[in-house]
Amino acid sequence: MKIGILISGRGSNMAAIADAVARGDIPGAEIAVVVSDKPGAAGLVKAAERGIEAIAIPRSGRIREDHDRELVAALTERGIELVCLAGYMRLLSPFFIRSFPNRIVNIHPSLLPSFKGLDAQRQAFEYGVRITGCTVHFVDEELDHGAIILQKAVAVADDDTAETLSARILEQEHASYIEALRLICGGNYRIEGRRIEFGS
Ligand code: GAR
Repeated sequence: MKIGILISGRGSNMAAIADAVARGDIPGAEIAVVVSDKPGAAGLVKAAERGIEAIAIPRSGRIREDHDRELVAALTERGIELVCLAGYMRLLSPFFIRSFPNRIVNIHPSLLPSFKGLDAQRQAFEYGVRITGCTVHFVDEELDHGAIILQKAVAVADDDTAETLSARILEQEHASYIEALRLICGGNYRIEGRRIEFGS
């Protein structure tokens, strides 16, 4: 499975996935390219250090669909079969989503459907929930909405801040993304509406 990873910043999820692939922990997976919409993204350096092609396709000032057409062209040129969003902070256009039907995966730092959108960890912290976590899901045309592949819960401690909570969620994100990709690359699943049946 040739994977393209889209990032916008730090790239810690991307690095966790790349390192898992390098260890052979995601059988059948190959990271073919990492693309950032922000030229200065630290994640591009992390990808290049790992010997992965790392490119920027800047979005600033461009209409979403024009930018997405360039992204899709770059991904299809490289034979990408699965797109992983890893801290990619721009909504995808319907054009992009239709170019990779059920072939785009995202990680979100909350237990969806709670706390969609930006700064989900802080949203959960400020709401006062006692349990939050992360979700790996397929991407559809609605924000943070597609079929859920897996979720991991993280308890909120009495002495947490939004930052300490985010750091614990991030550890679970890395483990979750690797586990989800192992499931998806294994190919032994079926999407039934919002539900994914594994081992069928
Ligand atoms: C991660 O916490 C990821 O879940 C979040 O951005 C961070 C990126 O970190 N994504 C979203 O909020 C998407 N809605 P990373 O660049 O170190 O992987």
